[in-house]
Amino acid sequence: MTFCGLLPLLLLFSISSTPKTTANLEGDALFSLRRALKDPGNVLQSWDPTLVNPCTWFHVTCDQHNRVTRLDLGNAKLTGRLVPELGRLDHLQYLELYRNNLVGPIPKQLGELKSLVSLDLYHNNLTGPIPPSLSRLTNLRFLRLNGNKLSGKIPRKLTKLRNLKSFNVSNNDLCGTIPTSGSFYKFTEKSYLNNAKLKGPELMGSVSYDIGCD
Ligand SMILES: *[C@@H]1O[C@H](CO)[C@@H](O)[C@H](O)[C@H]1NC(C)=O
Ligand SMILES: *[C@@H]1O[C@H](CO)[C@@H](O)[C@H](O)[C@H]1NC(C)=O
Repeated sequence: MTFCGLLPLLLLFSISSTPKTTANLEGDALFSLRRALKDPGNVLQSWDPTLVNPCTWFHVTCDQHNRVTRLDLGNAKLTGRLVPELGRLDHLQYLELYRNNLVGPIPKQLGELKSLVSLDLYHNNLTGPIPPSLSRLTNLRFLRLNGNKLSGKIPRKLTKLRNLKSFNVSNNDLCGTIPTSGSFYKFTEKSYLNNAKLKGPELMGSVSYDIGCD
């Protein structure tokens, strides 16, 4: 074989023999969360960023391809803020962080979690708006944000979420009117309790009734 014939082989060999980068993007994303949280109960103690993937960490579940599908950290005494890096877990189906003491905003990057079925952030101390980006979570069935300090309007775009079965924003500081279009026809006032500035349902079919917050 001529050298020219050998060259592609040499190239191929040098590429495949480069040590496989131990890219662990999902582990890194989760570790960013760990760094942003206080964990007095040590529930995140097993989260070792030097492992090849986070699939053996407690409270993390992966599929057969070692992609993270669940984060189960409800009732875990965690305090601190959510991080935008969570948006990188694009196989995540269940994000369970209810009944902690999380503060700060819901990162808009959670709208990148294409596989998400359940977003449970209820009973924390989250502030700021409900990100309109959550309307991109087309598989979402459970969206429970009750018992926080969320403010602003309920994004109208959320009514596009066809699969939404359970929606609760009770006990927040939301304002404006209650959407009734799209998948929201099925939710009752029990989804909206105790938001002093929320003004009641918008008129059916009337987009112009989507008024502001003052
Ligand atoms: C939210 O913060 C208040 C103090 O600002 C505190 O009393 C309350 O227990 C917190 N709620 C949760 C669910 O941690
Ligand atoms: C929403 O949560 C509140 C408690 O924060 C509860 O009282 C209410 O029944 C819940 N609504 C639905 C529809 O489950």
